[in-house]
Amino acid sequence: MKKITIAIDGFSSTGKSTLAKQLAKTLGYVYVDTGAMYRAVTYFIMQNNWITPTKIDKLAIVKNLDKINLHFQFNEQLGYAEMYLNNKNVEKQIRTLEVSQNVSRIAEISEIRAKLVQQQQEMGKNKAIVMDGRDIGTVVFPNADVKLFMTASAETRAQRRFNELVENGQRVSFAEVLENVQQRDYIDTHREDSPLVKAEDAIVIDNSVLTKEEQFKVVLQIVNKHL
Ligand code: DC
Repeated sequence: MKKITIAIDGFSSTGKSTLAKQLAKTLGYVYVDTGAMYRAVTYFIMQNNWITPTKIDKLAIVKNLDKINLHFQFNEQLGYAEMYLNNKNVEKQIRTLEVSQNVSRIAEISEIRAKLVQQQQEMGKNKAIVMDGRDIGTVVFPNADVKLFMTASAETRAQRRFNELVENGQRVSFAEVLENVQQRDYIDTHREDSPLVKAEDAIVIDNSVLTKEEQFKVVLQIVNKHL
């Protein structure tokens, strides 16, 4: 069967990773969550105190970029790959609200983007990949066979993220989660380097009204046309 590249971009908490995982499993493709890579880098920077609410020590970050080693490792039980930072599984640490509150500011740094984009392109060189993020169809794989752009209202997305965080035992309020979603939307769409925009040839999926199953059916039809 023909191998293709599927790029999924969109706002935070639009269900990109759920859809990407479903697709990868069905097609037997590799799934890469690029948000996890930006989150792992952010976690590393937070641990080194190079970011505060008002300041980022960009000099120290850029100087130490080669000390950040990222890789994904497939977890048979979960059915998807988990994020490792310097050989340590950081899946849990990178999904906290604190990391979410810092990650968009870190993702603005061009030197970090260049490093991660290069690694992402390397992972996708043999195709048969589903990658999700903010710049996959525009920067990482501008020639992707299928490009999807996912969106949903900020309230719907904040509710999803809130439920996830509470399920993981984190104490957060809906108001702070909604504020974080709106702040990230703003930074992600307004940054200078690779802002979140819909690629001209991307298909918009608004899942405010679609169930997971309906959405998957629609997307599978789109994908099947390219196989
Ligand atoms: O998909 P996510 O919410 O886990 O992504 C976390 C942040 O990382 C998001 O707010 C913006 C940034 N990001 C990015 O700039 N480019 C990507 N390709 C993926 C994520």
